[in-house]
Amino acid sequence: MSVHPLSTTPPTIVPREKLDFGLDGDIPKYWFGDDAFKTRYFDSMSTTFPEGERYFICCVRDFRDQVSDERLRQEIKDFIRQEGQHGIVHSRFNDLLKAQGIDVDRLEGFTRTFLFDIMRRFFPRKHTLATTAACEHLTAIMAHSFFQRSDVMASADPRMMALYAWHAMEEMEHKAVAFDVMQKVAKVGYLRRIYTLFEVTIAFNLQMLIYTNIMLKTDGHSLWARTKMFAKGLWWLYGARGLYMSNLKPYLRYYKPGFHPWQETEPSCYQLWVDTFNRTGDPIAAGQAVYAAAA
Ligand SMILES: [Fe+2]
Ligand SMILES: [Fe+2]
Repeated sequence: MSVHPLSTTPPTIVPREKLDFGLDGDIPKYWFGDDAFKTRYFDSMSTTFPEGERYFICCVRDFRDQVSDERLRQEIKDFIRQEGQHGIVHSRFNDLLKAQGIDVDRLEGFTRTFLFDIMRRFFPRKHTLATTAACEHLTAIMAHSFFQRSDVMASADPRMMALYAWHAMEEMEHKAVAFDVMQKVAKVGYLRRIYTLFEVTIAFNLQMLIYTNIMLKTDGHSLWARTKMFAKGLWWLYGARGLYMSNLKPYLRYYKPGFHPWQETEPSCYQLWVDTFNRTGDPIAAGQAVYAAAA
């Protein structure tokens, strides 16, 4: 078992259940500053989470019986509980999308076919676990994109901001679980580790753009209107001060030989979120605290 130099003390993985985000109907259709592209981009993510989280859980479970380390066994349990909750809450939100006319079942069907009928059927278990660890790296650095700069979430509905803040914080807590199973138990090597990050980066980005386009088309936006939205939206995502530019450095660290998730320093928003949530029991207050502290 290799020992990694850690720059941070890993926090405890705390499954938080039955949280109330106020997802009961009056979330505006374009909840992200009345911006159709931004909203539907995030909604695309939401439609992939229930099947995606189920895939992550299955891929880690494949190796659970081979894990002898008690601490890692407990972390796997807590990881599964957290991911299960993420799937449940995003499904609840996805019901609102259905009420808006979005064919969520069709989009989830695409995701399910890709993950379960292609990936899990045709690729070895080591590979699907490595794709899970790679996806966990992407979700672990979500907070860098969403909550390091105040301008990113400035126009988002506070309930939706809170949902993504909660998800991002818990992703940080369990970010090393799939990685540790991959390295300590499945013994996945460096090349497969970095190749799968490349693979999921391409797949994730393409999938989000395709789903966003489908949703905007369902909303009735013409091809010309969507082209203009995409021109602006792609700059918002990938431009010099784009959403993903804030997490480029932490993203790239995964490609370094000897990388381990706990070498990463957590953004300060993590402790602030935990402290606020523990004090108030309110995920919306915790999301607001994180947003208020963003630079
Ligand atoms: Fe998750
Ligand atoms: Fe996760």
